[in-house]
Amino acid sequence: MATQADSIEEIFTTVAALAPEIRDALPGRRVQNDETNPSGEMQLAADAYADELFLDHLGALDTVVEYSSEERTKIVPTDDDGEPGLSVAIDPLDGSSNLKSNNTMGTIVAVYDAPLPAAGSDLVAAAYVLFGPITTMVTADGDGVTEYLVDDGVREVITEDVQLPDDPSVYGFGGRVPDWPADFTAYTEDIEPDDSMKLRYGGAMIGDINQVLTYGGIFAYPALESAPNGKLRLQFEGNPIGFIIESAGGRSSDGIQSLLNVEATDLHQRVPVHIGNVSLIKELEERFR
Ligand code: AHG
Repeated sequence: MATQADSIEEIFTTVAALAPEIRDALPGRRVQNDETNPSGEMQLAADAYADELFLDHLGALDTVVEYSSEERTKIVPTDDDGEPGLSVAIDPLDGSSNLKSNNTMGTIVAVYDAPLPAAGSDLVAAAYVLFGPITTMVTADGDGVTEYLVDDGVREVITEDVQLPDDPSVYGFGGRVPDWPADFTAYTEDIEPDDSMKLRYGGAMIGDINQVLTYGGIFAYPALESAPNGKLRLQFEGNPIGFIIESAGGRSSDGIQSLLNVEATDLHQRVPVHIGNVSLIKELEERFR
């Protein structure tokens, strides 16, 4: 009888195995589809291709009973034997607008032990694949965070028990500066003069998060005056990345509370995202009081 840990491992192995196929498919898929995704953004052919591939392969696993993705409106039931199982929510290509400029992008996977939409407290695992100069994968399974090299679709451990460095040095904030609310602007004015911190923003959350995990620091896509819930989605982005960074000793916040405590009300709901070292997120939450 497979354990939940076996099921999580099977999901991670499947995602890693698809990474070379997705990477190889990117050069020919830099054009836009005619479709918009459920959040109203133009889909690239690459987003749609990756989404179909993940549905085919993750949906075929006995352990996966629900599949959902940032690219499709509805949850796809994938249970064929009536046995209980796990729900997968996936951002097939986070930061796909970076494909045009050939910058970093990646895949984010959230594994919930509950029907979707689910709360962060229902997460049992999360992972991301980073398509940078090399392909790496970071996983969190409730028992620590591991970074892998993905070589020919197979994971090789680079670092076990990854922890955020104690002395943070990078920050990256999304959204137009004039669109930031006053409390967030006040926080950025605390950070910017700090000579131990430098700005690094790449336009793909997953790349920006990976540098926070590597160097220590903070990433935010805050609430905006024009979009009070920000841009990023709770199920596909906020929750899984919050789970990984909190598992690595950091903290996540919507400005008030951990992202993992935000109530899930809609599959495509957006949430302000602030993620990084505990000290920096605490200072941010103080500014928001
Ligand atoms: P998408 O996956 O639709 O390309 O969205 C990417 C997200 C996230 O990865 C990144 O932090 C943010 O959008 C970038 O948005 P801006 O273009 O506003 O900087």
